[in-house]
Amino acid sequence: MRMVLAVACAALSVAILSPLPASLVQAQPEAPALVRERCTACHNLARVRERIGKNSEKDWVDYIGRMQKRGARVDDAQKAAMAAYLSTLAAGDAL
Ligand code: HEC
Repeated sequence: MRMVLAVACAALSVAILSPLPASLVQAQPEAPALVRERCTACHNLARVRERIGKNSEKDWVDYIGRMQKRGARVDDAQKAAMAAYLSTLAAGDAL
């Protein structure tokens, strides 16, 4: 019985300590969904569209940083993901 318990405990701690699968770690909305959801709380997407094709990725990081200061519910990882996504779009692309 002792042995069984020890083995069970070992198996359990391996399960707990092993890193989470990537799919679980990244269980947050994809960048396009994030933009539609988080960037429409104060203005509509027309505001965002105006800068598409003009802003570099770095510009988007700065812009979204400004939005964070205004109260946008966006963390830094989401900011980076959205900036990368937005900088791949061309003017007129659907958001
Ligand atoms: C908490 C409110 C709020 C949220 C959420 C928000 N914004 Fe804004 N945004 C503003 C305000 C206020 C302005 C106008 C003042 C300004 O330009 O900074 C603005 C203006 C803009 C502009 C035009 C700025 C310019 O100089 O042309 C862009 C582009 C923009 N927002 C993008 C975004 C993006 C992308 C998101 C999502 C990450 C977002 N916003 C979320 C408040 C917000």
